[in-house]
Amino acid sequence: MPDARTPHVALITGASSGIGEELAKCFAQAGHDLVLVARSADKLKALASDLASAHGVKAWVEPADLSQPAAASVLAARLKRQRRTVDVLVNCAGVLSHGPFATMPAATAQGMIDLNISGLTAMLNAFLPGMVKRGSGRVMNVASIASFQPVPALATYAATKAYVLSLTESLSEELKGSGVTITALCPGVTATHMLTQAMAADASLAKLPGVLVGSAADVAKQGFKACMKGQVICVPGVANQATVLASRSTPKWAVRLLGGWLGRRAM
Ligand SMILES: NC(=O)c1ccc[n+]([C@@H]2O[C@H](COP(=O)([O-])OP(=O)(O)OC[C@H]3O[C@@H](n4cnc5c(N)ncnc54)[C@H](OP(=O)(O)O)[C@@H]3O)[C@@H](O)[C@H]2O)c1
Repeated sequence: MPDARTPHVALITGASSGIGEELAKCFAQAGHDLVLVARSADKLKALASDLASAHGVKAWVEPADLSQPAAASVLAARLKRQRRTVDVLVNCAGVLSHGPFATMPAATAQGMIDLNISGLTAMLNAFLPGMVKRGSGRVMNVASIASFQPVPALATYAATKAYVLSLTESLSEELKGSGVTITALCPGVTATHMLTQAMAADASLAKLPGVLVGSAADVAKQGFKACMKGQVICVPGVANQATVLASRSTPKWAVRLLGGWLGRRAM
């Protein structure tokens, strides 16, 4: 069980697969009770039952489509009625669509904005004020290394993740001294359902050397540690850290040119 100072109930969005599922395992292993959120109720129920029996924690399933405008407030109201306080909020749910912006259906780009930006912001609106009032809490937003530079062929996705990083960095300063910390987890390419889907649209991704593809379990372990420590930015993996360092210390125009050259090869 977490000690008396450790935030107890962790709400994890996108917990039905990939990085979110692995994060749920990390929190359960550390003794946190869980609220698991995604659309796939059956997958969430199976995970909840596995984690409850493996770690002796409680795990509640709250199926929701977080791209819908009212989803976060409806969820928060339900949890309030059940007298469940959320001590840790992990915003991991996200979608990616690959391809040139000019030929991408507007609804596809909007779908990324609705979940990756609006859904995430609505979850913060729903749960952050309570944490600040109580003077304790942890938040983790899952961004990406795509947050750090423009990425042609992933233009809207990268822009949504830049939003997540920027929002998190601003809030980390606003929250100083409040007892609440906020972390942006910025994974590089990670072997999940999202990567399988992206590879179907961009065959060049299949040629990525294995060392550049992280495992969801490793990414989650590093994210969990960073979140508990209150670290503002966590970039898992040495190669990803080098990429981020290079893109942050190189003039924007050069990063854009290199990103453009690589991106055009993938379109
Ligand atoms: N894989 C990578 O290379 C990579 C790299 C950097 C960052 N990331 C980020 O990591 C996060 C997790 O992605 P992943 O790689 O683990 O992919 P994933 O396995 O496809 O997981 C995505 C999760 O989001 C949930 N989700 C999708 N649409 C939703 C909606 N409308 N409402 C609620 N939940 C929804 C999915 O569950 P349901 O389908 O059941 O709703 C699933 O649990 C994302 O934010 C992604 O952008 C991934």
